[in-house]
Amino acid sequence: MSAGSKSFYLTTPIYYVNDAPHIGHAYTTVAGDVLTRWHRQRGESVWFLTGTDEHGQKVLNTANSSGASPQDWCDRLVDTSWKPTWASLNIAYDDFIRTTEPRHMERVQSFLTGLKDQGHIYSGRYEGPYCIGCEEFKLPTDLDDGRCKVHGTLAELVSEENWFFRLSAFIPQLLQHYRDHPEACEPTSARNEVISFLESGVQDLSISRSSFDWGIPVPWDTKQVIYVWFDALLNYATAVGLGDPVDSVGGKKFAEVWPPDVNLVGKDILRFHAVIWPAMLMAANLPLPKKVFAHGWLLVGGEKMSKSKLTGIAPSDITDHFGVDAFRYYFLRAIPFGTDGSFSWEDMGARYTSELANDFGNLASRLIAMIEKYCDGVIPAVANDEILQDALSGTVSNADTTIVALDFQGGINAIMEFCKRVNGYVTEKAPWVLAKNSANKSELDAVLYNTADSIRALAVLLHPVMPATTEILWASLGADESMGPISAQRIGDVARWGQLPPGSKVTKGAVLFPRLEDKAL
Ligand code: ME8
Ligand code: MG
Repeated sequence: MSAGSKSFYLTTPIYYVNDAPHIGHAYTTVAGDVLTRWHRQRGESVWFLTGTDEHGQKVLNTANSSGASPQDWCDRLVDTSWKPTWASLNIAYDDFIRTTEPRHMERVQSFLTGLKDQGHIYSGRYEGPYCIGCEEFKLPTDLDDGRCKVHGTLAELVSEENWFFRLSAFIPQLLQHYRDHPEACEPTSARNEVISFLESGVQDLSISRSSFDWGIPVPWDTKQVIYVWFDALLNYATAVGLGDPVDSVGGKKFAEVWPPDVNLVGKDILRFHAVIWPAMLMAANLPLPKKVFAHGWLLVGGEKMSKSKLTGIAPSDITDHFGVDAFRYYFLRAIPFGTDGSFSWEDMGARYTSELANDFGNLASRLIAMIEKYCDGVIPAVANDEILQDALSGTVSNADTTIVALDFQGGINAIMEFCKRVNGYVTEKAPWVLAKNSANKSELDAVLYNTADSIRALAVLLHPVMPATTEILWASLGADESMGPISAQRIGDVARWGQLPPGSKVTKGAVLFPRLEDKAL
């Protein structure tokens, strides 16, 4: 990293380990992985954090009901379920934080002590409803007949002496923040919701609990544990050295990455991230995240897919059939980021066949087969086609603008439109007809070169979305030998025509997207 330039720092929520991950969690984590891979390919230094939220009543109750100690339960789920799922989906996180780690717990305690010393914490009595599913103190308007609107379960009545955070003191400053920096909360619908919530009047927040002990002790009152959300939100800062001396390892990391460029979350946890979290940072005089982005929900039967309601579909249910890269592609391609969407087996099958197997996979395998047949398997001399080159330049700038703005659907669409263009080019030029007459050899070579260099560009552009498949394609173009690893190719350089070196040897690789009927069910 060059001096003075800050790393692109992206976080996902840290997920509760009350159960195994479902495709809703995978949706957020894959989106974060695609965006950070894209930024790495722009040549930026990147820090990508994910992890698990392990304290609180919800996790404690699940552990209790399965007869495990909460720590053993968390260890088991993280090791046998969460980390393996992310590995199977090819998630290239830089760090994985668990809230039961000493590095987190110690920094949370120092942070809280600092807030108390500054006068932002006081003791009081909390009386009111609490939803364990949400781990949230509820307002009467959040409930229907005493039941949580999200979980449908009865809220429990809490009446405790607690420590409170002066959240209400920060409301004017928060409103001003979102007026001055509308990009700090996206999409617009999320920002509007946050602003009207702030305008409706916000109470101070109880930030400790005394009726159970699975949490981080309040440093000056160890009969109380810190409220799980106050503990969890701080992970984004504790994982990168919050509060460490400036010249220590942690202090240097903090200077390199803080503040986060994107706190990526689902809309269920928007208020925690757009109200409580920035207020905590304001109280500590720390710079605020540049953006919280709240995406929509994956729905099952019109309702949010959820661990608590046992409506979760495991990622492997889908990847076993369609493969990992099709899974990574599908949700970002099919659902505008920020909007709810339903998973449909039929829609996924249709897109798999038309976009991945036909438009992309077939294009690549036809090209390799033609170069083998007509050019002895060797990439011919560099050629030019102005229309393709212009289309590629437009595609790269469009995809870069949209993906950096978290419009994954827009970005992938732009790339796949270019893929269609290239298919159209091959159909129009009909190299198999040119091949019938040796007088056409130089034209045939030019068509094959132009197609091959277009596929070189497609592979690089799709690499953040489908890392494994594009690596196979890269190898079969002979490009890893002639151009270096695909991950080293830069987005800003993709549109430069003629990069695929003539003379590279192509090889027929594995079929990128096998026909579904040929796959074992
Ligand atoms: O809320 N559709 O953890 P959690 C889309 N520990 N995304 C979904 C989803 C769905 N149906 N279901 C879950 C917590 N998600 C806290 C977070 S952060 C400091 C603490 C994704 O296990 C989405 O990102 O309930 C959502 O915000 C998150 O999982 C909630 O995960
Ligand atoms: Mg949840």
